[in-house]
Amino acid sequence: MRQKIVAGNWKCNTTLQEGIELAKAVDTIVANEGATDVVVVLGTPFTHIVKVVETVDAARIGVAAQNCAAEAKGAFTGEVSADMVKSTGANYVILGHSERREYYGETSEILNKKVALALKSGLTPIFCCGEALAIRQAETHNEYVKQQLTETIFNLSADDFKKIVIAYEPIWAIGTGVTASSQQAQDMHANIRAAITAKFGAEIAEGTSILYGGSCNAKNAKELFANKDVDGGLIGGASLKAEDFIQIINGF
Ligand code: 13P
Repeated sequence: MRQKIVAGNWKCNTTLQEGIELAKAVDTIVANEGATDVVVVLGTPFTHIVKVVETVDAARIGVAAQNCAAEAKGAFTGEVSADMVKSTGANYVILGHSERREYYGETSEILNKKVALALKSGLTPIFCCGEALAIRQAETHNEYVKQQLTETIFNLSADDFKKIVIAYEPIWAIGTGVTASSQQAQDMHANIRAAITAKFGAEIAEGTSILYGGSCNAKNAKELFANKDVDGGLIGGASLKAEDFIQIINGF
C-alpha cells in the first residue's frame, strides 16, 4: 500500500548508548509533534535493534536493519540472517544501498537472494537504486535505474513486489550536500513508476511507495515531498538529530 514514509539510515554511526538516546529523542518528538499519517522508520546498526525496538512506540515507529545475509543460516561467520533480524522485532530491512554495492561488492545476484530471504521472513525491504555521477552526466540514468530494478526486484511475483518499498538514491547526492533538484527527483520517480506500470500494471505502480534519498534535510524535504511521485525519504545524516528528523517527517 502506498504510504508516506520517512526512514532514517543511521549507517555506521552511534554507540549503543548513543543510539538508545537518539531513539528515545525521536520517539518523544514523534509522539508530541509527528504527523500521524507518516510512517517513521529507524534504520539502526544490528547491535542496536533489540534495544531500539524496546525503546520506541511500535504503533508510531518501525525499525529497520541496514542489511541482511544472502543465506538463510549456517556457517557464515559474521553474517546476520533475515530471520534473525525479524526475530528482534524489526520489520524492515534496507537492501541494495549503494554503499553496500560499492564497498561490499553486492551484485544483483546477491541482492536477489537477500530480497527473497527478507520477504520470506516477513520483513519489508526498503530497496535502494540510483546512479553514479558519470551516468547522470551521460544522461543514461533513466535506463540505468530501470536496469537495476529489472535485475533485482522485477523478477518477483506481483504479490511479493507489492511488499517492497523503493528508495531512489542518486549516488552523487549521498552525503555530499548536493541534493537532486525537486524536478530531478520527480522525473526519476515518475520513470520508476512507469517502469513498474510496464512490468506489473498501473494498480501496483500506484500502490508502491518510492522514497528519495541523498542529502535530504530539514530545509529541502518539503519541496522534494511536494512532488506527486515522491512518497517520502530515506535519510542519512539528518536522521542522526531528532530535531532535524522531525522536520523532515513533518515535511509533507
Ligand atoms: P545522506 O542523507 O547523508 O545524504 O544519506 C542518504 C542515504 O544514503 C540514506 O540511505
